[in-house]
Amino acid sequence: MTGPVNKMLSTQSFAHMKQKGQKITMITAYDYAGGSAVAATDIDIILVGDSLGMVVLGYESTLAVTMQDMLIHSSAVRRGAPGKYIICDMPYLSYHMDSRETRQNAAQLVREGGANAVKLEGGSPSRIQAIRDIVDLEIPVCAHLGLTPQSILKFGGFKVQGKTESAHEEIFLQAQAIEEAGAFMLVLEGIPELLGKKITESLTIPTIGIGAGRYTDGQVLVYHDVLGYSNMQPKFVKQYARLNEVIPKAITDFHQEVREGSFPGREHTYYPID
Ligand code: KIV
Repeated sequence: MTGPVNKMLSTQSFAHMKQKGQKITMITAYDYAGGSAVAATDIDIILVGDSLGMVVLGYESTLAVTMQDMLIHSSAVRRGAPGKYIICDMPYLSYHMDSRETRQNAAQLVREGGANAVKLEGGSPSRIQAIRDIVDLEIPVCAHLGLTPQSILKFGGFKVQGKTESAHEEIFLQAQAIEEAGAFMLVLEGIPELLGKKITESLTIPTIGIGAGRYTDGQVLVYHDVLGYSNMQPKFVKQYARLNEVIPKAITDFHQEVREGSFPGREHTYYPID
């Protein structure tokens, strides 16, 4: 891969970007090739999302993703993108039990997964405590509110959150508690634009939106969605390529050329005999 690239940003860079009104860009990546591809761009942050459970491993939700999965994928992304700021998701149940386990898991994602920061979902009192526990280890924490995919059993599916007045208020207050607990960034997913704007204006830490409208401090999308490499296309996704068409076409071409005998050619052959 060839590429730009801007020098690795620090955890502090993002608050400065918010102050300057410079939009922050984040995209997920899950492996060495994806990490290398993003490393060749000026994207600010790579998120090793537990969405890998769905787009890479084929699960119906993110709930089955384990610490081991996150460590394998995060370290692969780090090898592909040595100079990028990487946030790694803490998978379901890795920060829900007790403080000691939460701290150990966060530290493992940094030490073995090569992450600069970790992300966890939710804003309940126990999640706020988890943020405090990890920040106490001097590991930066990105929080995540709204349509948090690890809560789909509670939500009854992938449904936009914060639509009623009380839900709107609850998410708004959780955002304030998250900043107060020491998180350096907040992902807002699947909420009405007005709520995304109100939270963004009320916080000093940057907000990164995904289906949270136009007024957050930055935007994140899933790698496969950006590339048109997944089967789902929710309203908030914009496809910038059509890998779902390009890849089957390339594989079909290979298949046909082998069948008809035009591949491999002389140029693909070591010491050709004619
Ligand atoms: O897991 C993930 O990819 C995420 C993003 C959708 C924000 O959490």
